[in-house]
Amino acid sequence: MPLKLNTAYLADFIAEHEIEYLRPHVEIAHGLLHAKAGPGSDFLGWLTLGGGQERAELDRLKESAAWIRENADVLVVIGIGGSYIGARAAIDFMRSPNYNLLPKNTPDIIFAGNTLSPDAINETLQLCRGKRLCVNVISKSGTTTEPALAFRVFRALLEEQYGKEEAARRIFCTTDASRGLLKSLADTMGYTTFVIPDDVGGRYSVFTPVGLLPIAVAGCDIDAILSSCAMAEQAFAVPDLDKNPAYRYAAIRNLLYSKGRKAEVLVTYEPALTALCEWYKQLFGESEGKDDKGLLPASMCFSTDLHSLGQYVQDGPAILFETIIQIARPHSDFAALSTGKDTDGLEFLAGQTFGEINRTAFLGTLLAHLEGGVPNLVIEVEDRSEKSFGELIFFFEKACAMSGYLLGVNPFDQPGVESYKKNMFALLGKPGFESARKELEQKIAGMVD
Ligand code: PA5
Repeated sequence: MPLKLNTAYLADFIAEHEIEYLRPHVEIAHGLLHAKAGPGSDFLGWLTLGGGQERAELDRLKESAAWIRENADVLVVIGIGGSYIGARAAIDFMRSPNYNLLPKNTPDIIFAGNTLSPDAINETLQLCRGKRLCVNVISKSGTTTEPALAFRVFRALLEEQYGKEEAARRIFCTTDASRGLLKSLADTMGYTTFVIPDDVGGRYSVFTPVGLLPIAVAGCDIDAILSSCAMAEQAFAVPDLDKNPAYRYAAIRNLLYSKGRKAEVLVTYEPALTALCEWYKQLFGESEGKDDKGLLPASMCFSTDLHSLGQYVQDGPAILFETIIQIARPHSDFAALSTGKDTDGLEFLAGQTFGEINRTAFLGTLLAHLEGGVPNLVIEVEDRSEKSFGELIFFFEKACAMSGYLLGVNPFDQPGVESYKKNMFALLGKPGFESARKELEQKIAGMVD
């Protein structure tokens, strides 16, 4: 079953002719995207990652993954933003959010470099000490503070445990082909390196070595993911809104936004998709939130969040819509137990599987939220396989690019991320930021009571 966008529940919110009015806009945006003539056109390499990667490089990556599997109990993946969240989403989706805890014959994978919290970094160190360790440090720019600092810490741990030479064999750098401090360090120290192509931005990079190396270490079949992505590249390359669910989804998001729905909640009923929702938030948040525009991407995991934010969705202000990712077949299913007695009033469920009950929760919630005036659309995916993952990721990437163009923003830059970095560097005393530091310190002094 290929991915399906089910828009049947939108009838009260969007009329077909409204989608029709967007058709010419979608066709123009499609033309710009595929002719590489629109904003951010230097960053369209992700359009062909499924079928367009060098076989020899992929083989080298698989060899490194096999070596890590053989020689490590723990792989520490150091990165932030697009250099981190895709791999996490993939491992949770195809394996499990409890991947590290479950029995397996692949190394634990621990993510670091996405926080400056000393507590978090210390705990990660504790988890690694005394274990057979490898590190994959990922940074396209090679200069991002959080992963660069974490790399200092874990490099020191490796060198302390193994000595410099063996540590060097256990460090894998994923970075730019030639630019950046990480690349020069890797060349000097003789670390194995993998390249993030110039024309692929961080949040579109999960199918480059950024995601593929950790995903392969976790034992997922990266060939199957890439061939599914290649099929999706073909399927979502048609400009026709009726035949391209990624574009239809983008058009619907755009319409709901223009009708005052300022937030999209991506909903899952599978905890294994929680990290995928985080990936989606980064993809759409960084791509669309600019020039005073953009849907706020949010996410909820039901049933958990039905008992917290569910109330807000049902009865709160009409500012959001829901997009549900519905997995047709769980990895495993089993029937609710019969106790023979009906002391808890649930004997009527005995024999029904949890998968069926979870699906009923989805249907019941969908109807309730529609009743509460919340537009709902559903993305139906077969299972949590490599094939589904490849398809789903490319679907969102293509939809995001189209959404950005329909909104009139460049979906491939992130100028806003620089502001906090500049302030942080200035306040930390980075050379070259002296006058900015003075200015900021004066501001802070003026704010103190
Ligand atoms: O999507 C993006 O481009 C960003 O989220 C980056 O991935 C993030 O800022 C990390 O950058 P880098 O890989 O250069 O360390």
